[in-house]
Amino acid sequence: MNPLLTRLQPYPFERLRQLCADITPPPAFRPISLGLGEPKYPTPEFIKQSLAGALDGLAHYPATAGEPALREACAGWLQRRYGLHVDARTQVLPVNGSREALFAFAQAVIDPARQPVVVCPNPFYQIYEGAALLAGAQPHYVASDPARNFAVDWDSVPAPVWARAQLLYVCSPGNPTGAVMPLAEWSKLFELSDRHGFVIASDECYSEIYFTGEPPLGGMEAAARLGRTDFRNLVSFTSLSKRSNVPGMRSGFVAGDAAILKQFLLYRTYHGSAMSPVVQQASIAAWNDEQHVVENRAMYQRKFAQVMPLLGPVLDVRLPDAGFYLWAGVGGSDTAFARDLLAQYNVTVLPGSFIAREAANPPGQPAGNPGAGRIRMALVAETAECVEAAQRIVQFVQSRNSRHS
Ligand SMILES: Cc1ncc(COP(=O)(O)O)c(C=O)c1O
Repeated sequence: MNPLLTRLQPYPFERLRQLCADITPPPAFRPISLGLGEPKYPTPEFIKQSLAGALDGLAHYPATAGEPALREACAGWLQRRYGLHVDARTQVLPVNGSREALFAFAQAVIDPARQPVVVCPNPFYQIYEGAALLAGAQPHYVASDPARNFAVDWDSVPAPVWARAQLLYVCSPGNPTGAVMPLAEWSKLFELSDRHGFVIASDECYSEIYFTGEPPLGGMEAAARLGRTDFRNLVSFTSLSKRSNVPGMRSGFVAGDAAILKQFLLYRTYHGSAMSPVVQQASIAAWNDEQHVVENRAMYQRKFAQVMPLLGPVLDVRLPDAGFYLWAGVGGSDTAFARDLLAQYNVTVLPGSFIAREAANPPGQPAGNPGAGRIRMALVAETAECVEAAQRIVQFVQSRNSRHS
């Protein structure tokens, strides 16, 4: 077997299962999970109909590059959403959800012979780490700073690490922090990329769920604003899963540097990751419609507006810029909080330390795991259920506090 497989970490939900294996939650409370970041709203009817209406497509092998009509639909969306002008033939590629693409990308980009480093945020989406390890690279974790709206502390990366960096994952809006990277931060990363030659993989799968008046800045949008219209060394990863409530459809696209996408397409041809023609048709319908996205976003905004006033007074938490997570400080052990909350109130949350790693943190921040003492709550269930979970958390925190005082 590939020895690198042994370096993979257990997935956070497996660790959560083990953490809570001996707990029998109180049956008086119905179970509510804020653990998994999976959208729960129904898939729009027109997308389902489009899938059903495209079944004849099953009689053909799809091209790995996707149908021109799908690539045009993706390019059209980039134009409407970010004002970008991209060549659908060379700068866009459909992928089967951003997860597989984020993983496969590292395999295509990394040269394992040159002691590669993959730089990624901390906390982070665990696929970055697994992708780096299986590509033969060493991950370098960069802590996000709670004092600066969880901005990742890129300045803390030592020069020798940048010198070996071949790939940088950024996640904006961030999972779990919800932080959106501003233009100045993009500018800094582009400069570093120019100096050291690494590729930037920009994971933007939460870009359509936001709470500020302004839609999150995209990586390619930032590049274009800074005059980098060839998107050199930049590839963005976009997904329908959260935007259109179709995580089961497995559809997204990558866009950016044409020279890199050409090589990525070559890799994907051998990897065998063409998108089903049926899914391609439904994806065209989804990218071409914005009304359902507006409604979806409004549902999240209403839900967060109801939950925040409940949790704000009892946890160290604030409304994120975007995404559907709350990243809350619990003032103690995150694993003990998650266990006790489940044991007493039948609410599941994800301990923050499970989605971050021990690392040397920047000056001013304590060493260790930047997720420790925090929990991630995915507000994906219906509003009433999330409000009920928040009310139980309030009771839980208050009873804990009164016991400790
Ligand atoms: C940060 C981040 N990136 C990528 C993904 C993958 O999404 P998908 O493969 O459904 O596009 C997820 C899923 O939860 C995520 O949280």
